Amino acid sequence: MMQRINGLTNVLGLIGHPVEHTMSPWIHNNLSKALDINSVYVPLHVLPGNLESAIKGAKALNLLGTNVTVPYKTQVMPYLDEIDEKALQIGAVNTIHYKDGKAYGYNTDAIGLLMSLQKAQIVLKGKNVCIIGAGGAARSVAIMCANEQVNNIYIVNRTLEKAEEIKKIVEANYDTQVIVKSYEEITEVNELEIAFQTTSIGMYPNTNESPVSNNFYNNLEWAVDLIYNPKETKFLSGARENGVKTLNGIGMLFFQAVKAYEIWHGISIPEDVVTDTFSKFITHVYNSD
Ligand code: ATR
Repeated sequence: MMQRINGLTNVLGLIGHPVEHTMSPWIHNNLSKALDINSVYVPLHVLPGNLESAIKGAKALNLLGTNVTVPYKTQVMPYLDEIDEKALQIGAVNTIHYKDGKAYGYNTDAIGLLMSLQKAQIVLKGKNVCIIGAGGAARSVAIMCANEQVNNIYIVNRTLEKAEEIKKIVEANYDTQVIVKSYEEITEVNELEIAFQTTSIGMYPNTNESPVSNNFYNNLEWAVDLIYNPKETKFLSGARENGVKTLNGIGMLFFQAVKAYEIWHGISIPEDVVTDTFSKFITHVYNSD
């Protein structure tokens, strides 16, 4: 996948700690190749304590854009010149566009998940949804759901205060009711239609763990896990065994990258390029060994 790099090459990258296992370079560099755009995307490992100088450095070095990942998505916000309204609501930035010496922050995680749901023909409007977990990822899912005019949002979390915080933010900005439940209580709720698993429980190498037991699934139509490794988490295999349709996090990962790429380059990527690169990406991730 060697690309030509010359004096005009735009530099993009991922700011995070750690960054060794990122799939983002594959996505962005393959988009550039397919679109014949002269950009290159590299990992930018930033140690704790160096985040502010990294952002200053990115501006000074005239990078075109960076993504931001764990543990810096919220921490990076004070160092940016402007932050998009959705990113402010979500309270996290995953995409920075450097332009005219300024750093502009965006969040493409929620739209990336929405695009992944649309591709699977999952409709949110009017549905009763359940969000498992109440961290940063849960917050962006909750805002996306409210924005898409779901009916009720149930949030289930071990630490109820964190779920209450998300409830406050959503109810202050939207007309959507948010109901906080414990893991015991949620099994009594029979109106759930779509469930989003947003915790790291079940992620490789802890593939035998699930945040919920078998009696969680009852009337569910769709179970969505934000995790993409393993391909089928225990949460998703439990859903499948209970007749529930499943979607993993590979689409969200891919489409948040597509949206970031579009922001940096000021383009809309043609549908056929998106579809073709997505299917190559799935093959790369799941069939490359
Ligand atoms: P992210 O930004 O990826 O959402 P996070 O903000 O650290 O990560 O949030 C992690 C979420 O996973 C939280 O909802 C956390 O539950 P608590 O708020 O109760 O801590 C949940 N989580 C992680 N490990 C867990 C475990 N072993 N059991 C239950 N919940 C867990």
